Amino acid sequence: MRGSRIAGLGSFLPERVVTNHDLSQWMETSDEWIQQRTGIRERRWVQGDVGASDLALPASQDALTEAGLEASDLDMIIFATLSPDIGFPGSSCLLQAKLGVPGIATLDIRNQCTGFVYALSVADQFIRSGAMKHILVVGAEVHSTGLDISTRGRDVTVIFGDGAGAAVVSATDGDARVLDSALHADGSQAEILMLGAPASGRNPRLSHEMLDAGLHYPSMKGSAVFKQAVRHFPAVIREVMERNAMSVDDIGMLIPHQANLRISEMVGKSLGIGPDRMHNTIQWTGNTTAASIPIALHEAVKAGRIQSGDHVVLAAFGAGLTWGANLIRW
Ligand code: UT7
Repeated sequence: MRGSRIAGLGSFLPERVVTNHDLSQWMETSDEWIQQRTGIRERRWVQGDVGASDLALPASQDALTEAGLEASDLDMIIFATLSPDIGFPGSSCLLQAKLGVPGIATLDIRNQCTGFVYALSVADQFIRSGAMKHILVVGAEVHSTGLDISTRGRDVTVIFGDGAGAAVVSATDGDARVLDSALHADGSQAEILMLGAPASGRNPRLSHEMLDAGLHYPSMKGSAVFKQAVRHFPAVIREVMERNAMSVDDIGMLIPHQANLRISEMVGKSLGIGPDRMHNTIQWTGNTTAASIPIALHEAVKAGRIQSGDHVVLAAFGAGLTWGANLIRW
């Protein structure tokens, strides 16, 4: 039966390293606080005018090379991001132009930290249906240019990093394939993690007063988000395993969205999954939202932590609220 598999992976982080010590020079924070609360030691931030599609380009080229394909072989680009290069058109269109493949379908997914999980499930469905053969699935973010780098924004700013990850998803009849995806959302809690401006629901969309109030920076009720994360992550992982007549013990490698190392550890503890079956990169990347799963997956594969036949689970939770998981037989 036709399905889809990950045929190639790529990732890209900007060169500039921003340590916790660097942050403590710009706001009231400390390396100790950040490491204790989040596990993050450093993150990468862009320099100059660099958009999400610029970071996505090298990641996509590497994923295509690994898949043994040219950009012209692609049927569609699906781009997950909460930090699109510009208001419109979507970053998928901009990446398509940079890859030099006019004419193929493009789609942006705006599901924040869960963006890559949703994007992979959409690619899987297009391929399963027989409509398409090769789809580039990207998660890429530039957070740093949209953060409040002062003490006012410290609870949010210390968490986020820039980066990109990409997967070429191709049709297969083999055993290695995406087995299932579980997707959820709860828009009634949108306000616990959101970016309020510019907004079509405000007239004007952006004003000096809104800038002064910092509405153009993300706002987060951190502990409320944390509590929801440690509830939904384990539940959706169990759901996708049980739906496929498996249990958490059958997971060979869990790639959780890199929100906070404490969240990953609490999720692991509640599922009985230790560091030997989980891959984390947040210590060096920070939280790169939609990019975090493909970056971590690529790293885990490069490190030889995922073998043919392993059951790999990608799981995410974030703004929306949105949460979900993909189950893959590698
Ligand atoms: O990926 C998208 C989804 N996002 C998440 O999953 C994030 C989930 N939430 C979290 O990761 C955590 O809530 C944070 C890391 C954001 C915050 O950690 P926390 O343990 O929940 O701290 P808190 O917000 O309860 O703040 C504790 C204290 C406060 O001071 P007081 O009121 O106790 O005096 C904060 O003002 O820590 C203070 N604080 C900081 N201190 C130093 C907040 N941010 C900082 C900071 N440095 N950067």
